[in-house]
Amino acid sequence: MSSSVLPLIEGADPANFPLDSFKVAIAVLLSKALDLSLDTAFSGVDFGRKGVDFTVAVPRFRLKSKIPELIEKVTSTFTPNHYLEQCVGESPFVHFYVRTTTLFKLVLERIHQSPASNGVPFGSNWQGAGKKVVIEFSSPNIAKPFHAGHLRSTIIGTVLSNLFEANGWDVIRMNYLGDWGKQFGLLAVGFKRYGSEESLANNAIMHLFDVYVKVNRDAALEKERGEPEITDQKAREVFRKMESGDESTLSLWRRFRELSIHKYAEVYNRLNVRFDVYAGESLVRSDHIKAAMAALEANNLLTDKTSKESNNNWKEKKVAMSLGTLRTAEEEDAEANPSGRGVAKAVDLNQWKLGKPVVQKPDGTTIYIMRDIAGVFQRYEQYKFDKHIYVVGDQQELHVAQFFKIVSLLNAPFADRLEHVSFGRVNGMSTRKGDVKFLDEILDTAKEAMLAQMQQKEEKFKDIEDPDYTADQIGMTCVKVQDMQAKRVHSYNFDPQRMTSFEGDTGAYLQYAHVRLCSIERKVAPTVVVPSDPSQINFDLLAEPKAREIVFILGTYPDVVSLHTRRHSHEYVAHPSPFLRLSHIISSAWETLIVMGQEHELAQARLFLYMSARDVLGSAMRLLSLSPLTRM
Ligand code: ARG
Repeated sequence: MSSSVLPLIEGADPANFPLDSFKVAIAVLLSKALDLSLDTAFSGVDFGRKGVDFTVAVPRFRLKSKIPELIEKVTSTFTPNHYLEQCVGESPFVHFYVRTTTLFKLVLERIHQSPASNGVPFGSNWQGAGKKVVIEFSSPNIAKPFHAGHLRSTIIGTVLSNLFEANGWDVIRMNYLGDWGKQFGLLAVGFKRYGSEESLANNAIMHLFDVYVKVNRDAALEKERGEPEITDQKAREVFRKMESGDESTLSLWRRFRELSIHKYAEVYNRLNVRFDVYAGESLVRSDHIKAAMAALEANNLLTDKTSKESNNNWKEKKVAMSLGTLRTAEEEDAEANPSGRGVAKAVDLNQWKLGKPVVQKPDGTTIYIMRDIAGVFQRYEQYKFDKHIYVVGDQQELHVAQFFKIVSLLNAPFADRLEHVSFGRVNGMSTRKGDVKFLDEILDTAKEAMLAQMQQKEEKFKDIEDPDYTADQIGMTCVKVQDMQAKRVHSYNFDPQRMTSFEGDTGAYLQYAHVRLCSIERKVAPTVVVPSDPSQINFDLLAEPKAREIVFILGTYPDVVSLHTRRHSHEYVAHPSPFLRLSHIISSAWETLIVMGQEHELAQARLFLYMSARDVLGSAMRLLSLSPLTRM
């Protein structure tokens, strides 16, 4: 291949993935040497391990000849060209090294190409064009604290949403509020006793929680003392009224809901999180519930749940409740039939080892799982999604599995489009008193820890314009990065001390890497200014291996975005993380790739490299919902 023109290969997208050009060049060679189709050859090219650009594992092609012979065929066919410099056999692999000047040109020019000329900014692609995904995440319960699990769901869901969007998907960000159930009856009763309009307007979330705790205590005391359970009875009455559409009870509830959403939105905003839809358990329409019940009946899926079974079920749930592992609406479900009166309807999923979940209470009121089942039909009707992701903690693994199974037993056309993105717990996030923390408090903890860190360096601290904002931003970065470093399925310990340190792979370190990249341009201006047309820069001057390493990592950014989307992974910052690696390499480059006081052309080229790194790191941080700082 003497010319630099490459063939088109399906799956290759050199316009958005600059490193694809090299993969295609390798595929051309492989297809010639090993008599493979271009597509097959292309799919066999992987990134190499440290120090190697690309690697091909020869056995994967399942060819008849012996591996050493195949390797010999490849290496003897190889001649250096515009894209490839060197090829080395190391059985069972062949390693490839790309031409540095071409690498620089393709990567650095693509980073600075304006989106308009290509349709998408660097890092994005069109792989999901024309497809729609609903991502349900965060989903706190009104009148209950926003706990660590909700925070994890929020972080993961936001990153996934941004990722899918960067891949060209149409993304619906959905918050499914826990805003229905007997507890709202209880809340209404409590509000009459303890509520204050002023506190409600001030901070609905805190106030409703307060009221909820008090009224719950009333109910518990009545029970304990053997008194008539007036509070509980009233709550049931109110909820029944709500379910039957009684306007006066509904209007109070609606206000609770609206004011809570208002407050949530403030905090989400602080976190760089937004939603397209505030859905909620209350918004699952009754005609959908009825239709789903009828479909269960028609498919012969409904069985009675005897009072004995219900009691057992209730006992199990009580244990879960005391461990704090059960969600609110389920508490109400658990209470549906503690005394064993009446018969509940259930679906027997024992042959799939998924138990026998109750789907309707004896008194006919709705239940958490049924709202999920009917709800997804409603969502499909509205959005006709190609994919629907539920970001819900592993404590609800069984619930989600049951709900997905029932949907598939109903032969829903979208059953195989549902995905559960599960995650482990965050430990150590309750207060000293042992009660739960609100999201605001969690973020404040991180911010204060950060501020304390910053104040230790008195000299620098003086220069920070807005220490409060800066500490808040870094604090949030730390909370999020700590989360992204833990494997999604694992639990981790919330550790304000460690996560806000500037040492190690923390959010603070990442922010610092970005700030330093920003400061270099300020420092050398106006002596060194980069020309607006990057083709005027002499990349040949960037001869250091460090520079090459940086450019190669920058080039992998679109691949990382695509890969993480396919894996539904937010573990961006986990090892091996291209961003932390980038930050490490850059921090080690400052001593060799000096800009200040260098000959002009060289200074320009190096500055351009740093600016490119800054742009990519910044857009990667934004993708992770972080706000890259320019000073700290
Ligand atoms: N509100 C629930 C809770 O706090 C989470 C909702 C999960 N999503 C769902 N579709 N069930 O536990």
